[in-house]
Amino acid sequence: MKRRLLLSFWLIFLALPACKQATGPSWQGYAIEKVAHNRDGMVVSAHPLATQVGVEVLQAGGNAVDAAIAVQFALAVVYPVAGNIGGGGFMVIRMADGTTDALDFREKAPGAAFRDMYLDSSGAVIPGLSLGGHLASGVPGSVDGMVKAFEKYSKIKDFSKLIQPAINLADHGFHLTDRQAKNLNSAQESFVKYNTTMPVFVRDSAWQEGDLLIQADLAQTLIRIRDQGREGFYGGKTADLIAAEMEAGHGIITRQDLQDYQAIWRQPLQGQYRDYDVITMPPSSSGGVALLQLLESVEDFPMADYGFHSTASVHAMIEAERRVYADRAKYLGDTDFYPVPIEGLTDPAYNRARMADFDPEHATPSDAISEGQPAAKESEQTTHFSVVDSDGNAVSVTTTINGGYGCKTVVAGAGFLLNNDMDDFSSKPGVPNMFGLIGGEANSIQPGKRMLSSMTPSIVAKDGELFMVVGSPGGSTIITSVFQMIVDVVDFGMTMDASVQSSRFHHQWKPDYVFLEPDSLPSATMQGLREMGYELNIRGHIGRVDAILRQPDGTLVGAADPRGDDHAAGY
Ligand code: DON
Repeated sequence: MKRRLLLSFWLIFLALPACKQATGPSWQGYAIEKVAHNRDGMVVSAHPLATQVGVEVLQAGGNAVDAAIAVQFALAVVYPVAGNIGGGGFMVIRMADGTTDALDFREKAPGAAFRDMYLDSSGAVIPGLSLGGHLASGVPGSVDGMVKAFEKYSKIKDFSKLIQPAINLADHGFHLTDRQAKNLNSAQESFVKYNTTMPVFVRDSAWQEGDLLIQADLAQTLIRIRDQGREGFYGGKTADLIAAEMEAGHGIITRQDLQDYQAIWRQPLQGQYRDYDVITMPPSSSGGVALLQLLESVEDFPMADYGFHSTASVHAMIEAERRVYADRAKYLGDTDFYPVPIEGLTDPAYNRARMADFDPEHATPSDAISEGQPAAKESEQTTHFSVVDSDGNAVSVTTTINGGYGCKTVVAGAGFLLNNDMDDFSSKPGVPNMFGLIGGEANSIQPGKRMLSSMTPSIVAKDGELFMVVGSPGGSTIITSVFQMIVDVVDFGMTMDASVQSSRFHHQWKPDYVFLEPDSLPSATMQGLREMGYELNIRGHIGRVDAILRQPDGTLVGAADPRGDDHAAGY
């Protein structure tokens, strides 16, 4: 599918010097491509300008990691609703020689954080405290993550080349899409509420498509990162500005917290689904563990015979989801603080046994399901983008500030939004977070601990060759979105773009609903599910997947989700 939004002038715009005029006749809109077929390299991200930055880095000789770093910084400018330097994320890498790696640049709880910090004196959760404003923010990890990814994997070896496109976009400005203008307008009240100094996002008249957004403070922060590396963010002037912002808003992130922050390389999780190798993110994300559990749970079911969106296939997948999310609530947390039984949970025999009470005729009520007993052996608004380079190296990155525009607080003078990922901790056992997820001890708040994530950047290989790069935003629905993409392509034989464009469903154990996108499942399937005892809950969009599939002839198919301005391009 190809969706053209007006004419393509943005390539020219990128090459032009500053154009300070707000909306004007020169604004011709972005050309948004939902599907791209290329042989040498591919980038799929949430914004056409960020995708273009990534493609240009690949064309200039950068590898997939170089391009991913450039895309991350570009998204921090052109996609402020989720792109960030004030948040965190995960990067899963598969190099062409088959070696794999995983980078955890998830935010951490500040040193002064404590278990009951969001509870009042009677022990009740104070509504909104973990969501809006300074206290909601964890210590950001994105900048250290990008620096570490650069140090270990860069081919281009010049950090300034990867961050300069973002500096230019912040300094010269970029034109808003219609969706972005509307998003900014709907957040005006929150920006006013959670900022002591009004950020550039706030203005008297409504934002409109084509308006130029210039972020001068952000440009200066990016310049400090360009010139000083990690110190440009975690030390010096930027750290001073963050500390001053915390003081102004009664936040708790200190200069010491910033100095102490370190992204960490982890061993990626690897599992098998039918003939495919799945490479995915270990904790502090729950995503990889849960994805492998879900795939193993349905592996014995004849999914291809059941068919796409049939009552039988949806039933099997939902029952797997119900059981896996019950485990998530009990066992998943930051492995640096809590002994998550990863091996037990991802053991195929364990997940097969979890499905032993699957009833082919009926839904199992969630109240009848609790966590399983895996072997106790211990091992220790978001955006996703996918990149493949001409050598076949692949990078899958999901990055977040959690809610749209994070905690809504912009660091005064530094121009970037802080996250509200502290809400991903379990503020109180059994009390749902903004995604309705519950947790307990494994995901309780402790200083320096990473809050549990659902982000599931993943790479699939077959017979030693790259097959798919996939991931999504969407809070708790991330894991089930990625699950559906893999089953769609592997079992139902769908193309990458058909899978990305198709509607999605989701179950997370509690609440005991099947969440559906509007007009999603065939009516016969919905009827079948109701007769089995499922309660269906129609909601808005589920996930926003940006994926790349490598066809057997080597062609790369980039598929950008139609639910956003997401854009696929290659060369
Ligand atoms: O890490 C997580 O699981 C959440 N902070 C992700 C938030 C998210 O996907 C919001 N985007 N739609």
